[in-house]
Amino acid sequence: MAEPYLRVENLIKKFGPFMALNGVNLEVYPGEVHALLGDNGAGKSTLIKTLAGVHQPSSGQLYIEGKPVNFRSPRDASDAGIGTVYQDLAVNQLMSVTRNFFMGRELKGPLGTLRMAEMDKIAHDEMLKIGIDFSDPTQAVGTMSGGQRQTLAIARAIYFGAKVLILDEPTSALGQ
Ligand SMILES: Nc1ncnc2c1ncn2[C@@H]1O[C@H](COP(=O)(O)OP(=O)(O)O)[C@@H](O)[C@H]1O
Ligand SMILES: [Mg+2]
Repeated sequence: MAEPYLRVENLIKKFGPFMALNGVNLEVYPGEVHALLGDNGAGKSTLIKTLAGVHQPSSGQLYIEGKPVNFRSPRDASDAGIGTVYQDLAVNQLMSVTRNFFMGRELKGPLGTLRMAEMDKIAHDEMLKIGIDFSDPTQAVGTMSGGQRQTLAIARAIYFGAKVLILDEPTSALGQ
């Protein structure tokens, strides 16, 4: 088979003397679904945050389509096609659905003004594509249910080019 989209080689992550990840190897090919299981404190979130550019590996190497990559920030990982939906969903509750959708990637006009109508439409349409008809994207995220917030986070990751979508404990933020 061709190269995996994402490859993790002997990834080690230490927090001070504490070994959180001790030699993780992983290959992710297009179309695959992987499930990562482990007790609380096993290191699942640490692995995810390392793939997402939040943490830097202590040693080991990540590869995207066979090329070694070093993510210095979440933006680097996102630009490489790694989309992440965090356990806490990483949303700002006081801001609107649209502002959360475009956080840090706002569409701006020539004078730096926000192209709000266009962003509202995209946020609405992208969420509709994955099944949530959230009619008013100017509404604060704090008014949304856990499932709707998760949909927002997933739609945002896909819209901004995720080739690999990582979900950290995707059911923990949901009600029954
Ligand atoms: N930023 C950090 N600093 C120090 N220790 C951390 C940090 N993040 C996680 N840890 C520790 O690493 C271990 C793995 O945590 P985590 O990846 O959150 O586990 P999981 O997501 O599998 O429950 C835990 O013992 C946790 O206390
Ligand atoms: Mg966790």
